[in-house]
Amino acid sequence: MPLSITDEQRDTLIAMAAEAKTKSYSPYSKFRVGAALLTKSGNIYTGCNVENASYGGAICAERTAYVKAVSEGDKYMVALAVATDANAFTSPCGICRQFVREFGTSVIVILTKPNGEFKETTVGDLLPDSFGPDDLGFETIEATADE
Ligand code: THU
Repeated sequence: MPLSITDEQRDTLIAMAAEAKTKSYSPYSKFRVGAALLTKSGNIYTGCNVENASYGGAICAERTAYVKAVSEGDKYMVALAVATDANAFTSPCGICRQFVREFGTSVIVILTKPNGEFKETTVGDLLPDSFGPDDLGFETIEATADE
């Protein structure tokens, strides 16, 4: 069964991703990104992009949120909202798609615009035919839908 969230949870994630965007450290690109990640335990972890004078050291908002969750022992992900200032649905970059895939392909991804519009997809749809723990003989750590 696919994962699902309530309208209220979606609204909260969208608002928290927008708030997290204001913490973005992006002096070089000036492209602010915020993320909010709901885990099975009901916790929400936010993240922003954190850039570096050595440009390759930048970390995206999505990975910041995932790392915050996993490092708190929360690794059953349910839904991730992403916010930017662009008047378009900004989708997670390739590195982030692979990174988040580790923790489940059925995780809901909510792409947002500053005007409140949103679009829902999943990690699996963003990264089809992906390489993951299963390919190495490990089970993917994945939240399952409630019965
Ligand atoms: N960025 C994210 O935080 N998430 C994405 O999915 C796309 C890109 C950040 C990285 C960098 O700080 C800035 O946006 C411009 O690439």
